Amino acid sequence: MLKKVTKAVFPVAGMGTRFLPATKASPKEMLPIVDIPLIQYAVEEAIAAGITQLIFVTSSSKRAIEDHFDSNFELESKLEERGKLDMLSIVKDILPPGVSCAYVRQPNQLGLGHAVLCAQSLIGDEPFAVLLADDLIDCEGPYCLERMVDMYQSTASSVIAAQRVSPDETHKYGIMALDERDPSTGCLRDIVEKPKPSEAPSNLAAVGRYILTPKIFQHLAVIGRGAGGEIQLTDAISKMLKEEDVFAYQFHGVRYDCGSKLGYLQATVNYALRHPEVGEEFRAYLSSLTLQELCEI
Ligand code: UTP
Repeated sequence: MLKKVTKAVFPVAGMGTRFLPATKASPKEMLPIVDIPLIQYAVEEAIAAGITQLIFVTSSSKRAIEDHFDSNFELESKLEERGKLDMLSIVKDILPPGVSCAYVRQPNQLGLGHAVLCAQSLIGDEPFAVLLADDLIDCEGPYCLERMVDMYQSTASSVIAAQRVSPDETHKYGIMALDERDPSTGCLRDIVEKPKPSEAPSNLAAVGRYILTPKIFQHLAVIGRGAGGEIQLTDAISKMLKEEDVFAYQFHGVRYDCGSKLGYLQATVNYALRHPEVGEEFRAYLSSLTLQELCEI
């Protein structure tokens, strides 16, 4: 019988250099989109997809993530004393009952593939999800990962979230080539890490959601360093698809690259506009800015 996907890995050990100095002492994944940190959006997406075990691959400057998902007795009792019960439930209900967290350190930042490999002993012989919290995916209806779990259940194979990118941006992504026999199935023929536009097999990019079979660990353990001197998840997937099928899932929605300043700002504006508390006033503020003011700021 097909094993269910109940575990998710959140690689959060990266240095976040594109966001320095904000990320010097605090994790990129704790940057808020209005009032919810990026990592909480990713965790909520995982839980909605049926994940019950959250595995964070962390590094020394990421203590705040552990604290965020732990209880904070002092804060909770102060909020209770002051009768701020709405705030109290926001703080207490970050994780629903039945969901557990585990943390494993990545001793050196050797890349995303290495970060995933660090979680091997906690995953064992099971399919699992990987979510990169700095890729915020805003879908209408069910979350992206939920759909990917459905696709895993119908194909019994690994699934990668995919999005078309501008052909001059292929050097920023893992780029996939679909099987020409029937591209509509999403079955992959190849995947290459950060190819130059002239060498890219397509403009279909892998973005930060994966469902992987445990076979990936066999490849991650032996591939060695690839692009940028890092152990690349893409390289291990490329080896794996010679042995078993891997599918691309082209989601319908918007992806914000919140690891970049521009993507982060775009996400903030769009989420702020529909925020129940400040959305209306923020919209009024934006529309009060004249074109001239926007050009002068
Ligand atoms: P990024 O490529 O965004 O790297 O990693 P980064 O270090 O976080 O950010 P920049 O590029 O320096 O600004 C993609 C994901 O993989 C994780 C990151 O935390 C991020 O979620 N990662 C990356 C690790 O966990 N370990 C690594 O060694 C590298």
